[in-house]
Amino acid sequence: MGTALIQGASRGIGLQFCSTLAARGATVIACCRNPSSAHQLKNLQSQHPGLIDIVQLDVTKEADIIDASQYVQKNHKKLDLLFNASGILSPTGKGETSLRDLSFQGLQETFAVNAFGPVMMAKHFSQTLMAGGGVIGGKVADPKQQHTAVFANMSARVGSISDNRLGGWYSYRMSKAALNMATKNLSLELGRGGKKVICIALHPGTVDTDLSRPYHKNVPEGKLFSRQQSVDYLMAIIDRVTFVDTGKYFAWDGSEIPF
Ligand SMILES: NC(=O)c1ccc[n+]([C@@H]2O[C@H](COP(=O)([O-])OP(=O)(O)OC[C@H]3O[C@@H](n4cnc5c(N)ncnc54)[C@H](OP(=O)(O)O)[C@@H]3O)[C@@H](O)[C@H]2O)c1
Repeated sequence: MGTALIQGASRGIGLQFCSTLAARGATVIACCRNPSSAHQLKNLQSQHPGLIDIVQLDVTKEADIIDASQYVQKNHKKLDLLFNASGILSPTGKGETSLRDLSFQGLQETFAVNAFGPVMMAKHFSQTLMAGGGVIGGKVADPKQQHTAVFANMSARVGSISDNRLGGWYSYRMSKAALNMATKNLSLELGRGGKKVICIALHPGTVDTDLSRPYHKNVPEGKLFSRQQSVDYLMAIIDRVTFVDTGKYFAWDGSEIPF
């Protein structure tokens, strides 16, 4: 039923992806930086015996990414989907409201988790993705696409430069814009040659997680998605993308967001 790697699987949207994919019967490699404290993920693993393989990976550490890629290559051989879900608003958990809140350390840490880590995942997992493709936990493969795996980066609408009308959240906005550029670059490099990989950036909506919690009171009634709702929307996009979609930036409803 396919093999998916979820990076940033301990909580929030990444954890929900693991749950949704395991329920479909996919094998899930669930990467998180502290497996010993990932209690919700371990509970989920016990509900799906043999389907969820928990692998330690701090996305800001290349040595962890290399170890994980070697483990996956040896034990799983191929990947049909890699989803980079990890993300932070900033190290304080809040977006900067003005220049006075900026620090080199905050910018660097946010970029490391949101942009540098995901593209380093591509560096070390692209070969395993090229070996995969097709069916992801029940997805009926388009025969034209059956050897094309998907590399998905969790972006955010606030990473769109053309959509920015409010300002603020420097680290988060800038790091997601950089992630979008990485996604576009990857779509070009991994779109050449015989073995291709579809690369996309996704916006999940405003979702009820720890990351968005400080801002829930500002979300209009009915606009805060549950994790399951958001992941159902995003899986529908992943299920239907074909190679013509590579390099695109999609919102939860399937509409394209301008960069
Ligand atoms: N929630 C929203 O409304 C919303 C909207 C737009 C975009 N997004 C994006 O969606 C993604 C998931 O966010 P979420 O809402 O699910 O947030 P969340 O509940 O706060 O989860 C964030 C995840 O990122 C992981 N993480 C943080 N630093 C990491 C590192 N160095 N290495 C590996 N994993 C790390 C966390 O692991 P630990 O448990 O180890 O901390 C956790 O699993 C993010 O990229 C976010 O930017 C969310």
